[in-house]
Amino acid sequence: MDDFEGRTAVITGAASGIGLALARRAAAEGMNLVLADIEEAPLDEVVHDFESAGTEVVGLRTDVSSIEDVSALAAAATSRFGNVHLLCNNAGVGGGGSVVDPDDIGVWQWVIGVDLFGVIYGIKAFASDMIAHGEPCHIVNTASMAGLLSVPGMGSYNVAKFGVVTLSEVLSLETRDTNLGVSVLCPGFVATRIHDSDRNLPEHLVPREELTPEQEEWRAMVRELVEGGKPPDEIADVVFDAVRSGRFYVLPHPEMAERVLDRAQWIVDGAPPPMPEL
Ligand code: NAI
Repeated sequence: MDDFEGRTAVITGAASGIGLALARRAAAEGMNLVLADIEEAPLDEVVHDFESAGTEVVGLRTDVSSIEDVSALAAAATSRFGNVHLLCNNAGVGGGGSVVDPDDIGVWQWVIGVDLFGVIYGIKAFASDMIAHGEPCHIVNTASMAGLLSVPGMGSYNVAKFGVVTLSEVLSLETRDTNLGVSVLCPGFVATRIHDSDRNLPEHLVPREELTPEQEEWRAMVRELVEGGKPPDEIADVVFDAVRSGRFYVLPHPEMAERVLDRAQWIVDGAPPPMPEL
């Protein structure tokens, strides 16, 4: 897909971070925007800003872990703008999820519900219509470097993001001879609000007790790494270049490429995964 002007982009998780940067870039390309987010007030604000700048835009409060919400998003996009040309399944939450701890199963369900099922539902709700309309179109799924490399203590996020990578590979294989292009975005750290994902924790998971010093320390470290990450607008530029050139794997942090090559070597060697450096 190399012509964006007057085409329609649907972006989930558009009220913040990478999603908002993708929306800014799509607007700059002259696209109509359909913006979705679970956080209604920031989404309304973002929609208002785009409207004021003259972009054709519609916003819909959407929980991507609900198939009903994602289906309603597809219906709203089609009813407002007709054919959808670019779908960014981007909404996501960062969460812990120790493999050993038996008490955090709710966190696993939340993280996998948003980060993996959110993408599955996006594909189910949009892909067949995008292929049926026959115009050049593209789906970008946001995974992470955590979809290619494992990190202890981030099991639920790793499982979801590895899932998004293979889901995208299968989508690419199943749609090879169609008008639909596919990319999977695997960034390292990006300066967004991902470290504050608990703001969207479902009510029943909100911790009743204070964090332990170890948990506080882990959080502070993640916050520092995220705040020192690449600017989201840079990621959006890399994504649009990838869509234009039909690139599938999108790794905006080139220093990560070596670790991916190392991974292939441990697999072939039968070695256990080495401790990652964050
Ligand atoms: P962010 O927290 O700034 O933005 C995420 C957006 O998703 C927020 O607006 C949030 O309200 C929304 N959201 C959360 N749960 C939702 C739900 N159930 N339904 C709909 N919207 C929901 O974080 P960021 O970094 O922009 O995250 C975007 C994507 O990038 C995520 O998939 C994340 O996993 C991925 N990512 C982020 C990295 C980083 O270092 N920031 C690195 C690698 C991947």
